[in-house]
Amino acid sequence: MTPMLELKNINASYDFLQVLWGVSLNVDKGELVALIGPNGAGKSTTLRTIIGLISPKSGEVLFNGKIINNMPVYQISRMGISYVSEKLNLFTAMSVQENLILGAFAIRDKEKQLATLAYIFELFPRLEERKNQLAGTMSGGERKMLAIARGMMSMPQLMLVDEPSLGLQPNLTRNVFDALLQLRDRGVTILLVEQNVNATLNFTDRAYILEQGKTVMSGPSKEIKANKHVRNAYMGI
Ligand SMILES: Nc1ncnc2c1ncn2[C@@H]1O[C@H](COP(=O)(O)OP(=O)(O)OP(=O)(O)O)[C@@H](O)[C@H]1O
Ligand SMILES: [Mg+2]
Repeated sequence: MTPMLELKNINASYDFLQVLWGVSLNVDKGELVALIGPNGAGKSTTLRTIIGLISPKSGEVLFNGKIINNMPVYQISRMGISYVSEKLNLFTAMSVQENLILGAFAIRDKEKQLATLAYIFELFPRLEERKNQLAGTMSGGERKMLAIARGMMSMPQLMLVDEPSLGLQPNLTRNVFDALLQLRDRGVTILLVEQNVNATLNFTDRAYILEQGKTVMSGPSKEIKANKHVRNAYMGI
């Protein structure tokens, strides 16, 4: 079976600083896969390379078997990949509902947009309750939810989510992780970058460990969680 997403030997740099060194990974349809690693390892750079914000120096990114690393961001988004950056990039002076509608830019049909909105509100009832509230006045956890929900508005096949738990207290983190699990259960494939290693390995299917721009380990999350190096380096055990 062709993986939904495949990175083959990606080398990527910012100007003269090489950050990714031969990164290879794949995500199958329906999987929830974690990408874990220390600060500066290149996790966000990996996601930016997939969505087309960075062109790799060499290597290939394939989506459903098609090479996409030569395409602009909007085209990659239209193909069915959405990217929820750690910066969220919400329009703070616009309402929750307006932010969501903006996420559906790839869907031109108004009726389809509204149907998607209804689906999103069913998944995130809290957002429906607050649909007229300005995004900038939502709490930290609500804003994360909104960013993830907006990423869903284009009905992507694959979501790239960067550190959704950043700055959240544990119970809100759980809510965000639950939302991701729900999306996975509804058939959305997810590549998730997380610092919250212990919790992440509990609910993801597989994981990759990225260190200094190289994938040093991968496997089922349960096995990765039992690994001695991972326990020492990431869980302080
Ligand atoms: N726009 C940029 N210009 C130059 N260097 C950059 C840029 N963005 C990131 N880097 C560098 O690339 C390396 C990898 O950064 P990246 O953001 O991918 O790491 P990360 O694994 O996501 O880290 P974190 O856990 O802190 O988010 C770092 O050394 C960083 O300083
Ligand atoms: Mg990052």
